[in-house]
Amino acid sequence: MKALVIGGGGREHALVWGLARSASVTEVFAAPGNPGIESLARCVPVDVKDPDAIAGVADAVDADLVVVGPEEPLVRGAVDAVTARGRLAFGPSASGAQLEGSKRWMKELLAGAGVPTAAHASFGVGNEDAALAFLETLDRLYVIKTDGLAAGKGVVVTESIDEAADAVRAYLSGEAFGDAGRTVVIEEGLRGPELSLLVVCNGDADAAVPLAPAQDFKRIGDGDTGPNTGGMGAYSPVPAAGPHLIEQVMATSVLPTLHALEREGVSYRGVLYAGLMLTPDGPKVIEYNVRFGDPECEVIIPRLSNDLGELCRASASGDPLPAIGFSDEARVTVVLASEHYPATPRTGDVISGLDAAERRDDVLVFHAGTARAPDGSIVTAGGRVLAVTGTGATIDHARAAAYDAAAGISWPGMQYRSDIARDAAAG
Ligand SMILES: Nc1ncnc2c1ncn2[C@@H]1O[C@H](COP(=O)(O)OP(=O)(O)O)[C@@H](O)[C@H]1O
Ligand SMILES: [Mg+2]
Repeated sequence: MKALVIGGGGREHALVWGLARSASVTEVFAAPGNPGIESLARCVPVDVKDPDAIAGVADAVDADLVVVGPEEPLVRGAVDAVTARGRLAFGPSASGAQLEGSKRWMKELLAGAGVPTAAHASFGVGNEDAALAFLETLDRLYVIKTDGLAAGKGVVVTESIDEAADAVRAYLSGEAFGDAGRTVVIEEGLRGPELSLLVVCNGDADAAVPLAPAQDFKRIGDGDTGPNTGGMGAYSPVPAAGPHLIEQVMATSVLPTLHALEREGVSYRGVLYAGLMLTPDGPKVIEYNVRFGDPECEVIIPRLSNDLGELCRASASGDPLPAIGFSDEARVTVVLASEHYPATPRTGDVISGLDAAERRDDVLVFHAGTARAPDGSIVTAGGRVLAVTGTGATIDHARAAAYDAAAGISWPGMQYRSDIARDAAAG
């Protein structure tokens, strides 16, 4: 089977890596891919925002299976466009991708299905006064979200009602996030550790199977300080998330959500990613994503013992899903980011020390935001530049491998968190 991965970040590099190792896959293509992916797959340029262009690339390379990495093409209907041409695509249709494309729609679906989630209300342009009045009803922790996609940067969590009110005004005016923010979702603040549970779906709600849980780190700074980012690190397994917790989340949240989608006429395929908060009142859904998380993907895929191509094919075609297996080894990913990320990352710097890290057998280096300069050197080309994934018998060993490799890589202004998986390793 020929597989085509859509996207060009660290997640897609990990997906390409997994597909390249799959016995079911004879050849891997990526569009647009990146310099790290080039060593495993043939890269083809594409505008990932254009579903017809994606379907066109699938035709051009005669892909048997298209695996869509990022949320934006899913929300724009990439899977619909590819399947309309008679090819298999891993991921939800645009109707299923609304779960991530509209937080308002998602919250209403969850409320209707009785899924535990934060109390909320949504407001559009012209309803600023009602939005500010709703803020007054909340208790000390205020959460403001854009309804639409905002690349992980559209959420404000604050104990200051003034800051919350400012965010509401900036969102509704369109000043902060354009149309994505012209509808806001306001939520009560929840407290507790977060957990990501990714579930593979084949269109039959009752057949959904969970992958190994992972923990990610959203804030830019050590100790979960500073602004939210796309994700600064991850680890798996998660000692705090045992089989009982996973069963509980499947029963109270994931299955009721999939059944509610079925009632809306959506037969959900691909990955359903539940972002959870483990509150004193039990696990609650913070949000759903409709694809692999990045960097969760970079710890989960290397631990997966299944043939990734076969798993994706079964999901995409609605066939029975195979039993999922994971290796016992631990994986820890540390994201190396550019100076000034997440605000305005500085790019174009030559990365040194990459070869040595890539040669290690206890580390996988996934490229996220890199480019090849005319002289052949690899330079920074985005906010998150590399995802360095260490492996080891324990989280502690995997963490040591990732940090040791990261310490050998550098460019001007490179930044990374020093506390990824630290507490899990100690515990
Ligand atoms: N109701 C809430 N209470 C407390 N923190 C929240 C709440 N909703 C979101 N957050 C925090 O904000 C982060 C981002 O919110 P999320 O809904 O996942 O949006 P996105 O990932 O699209 O930016 C969450 O991972 C969590 O840390
Ligand atoms: Mg999130």
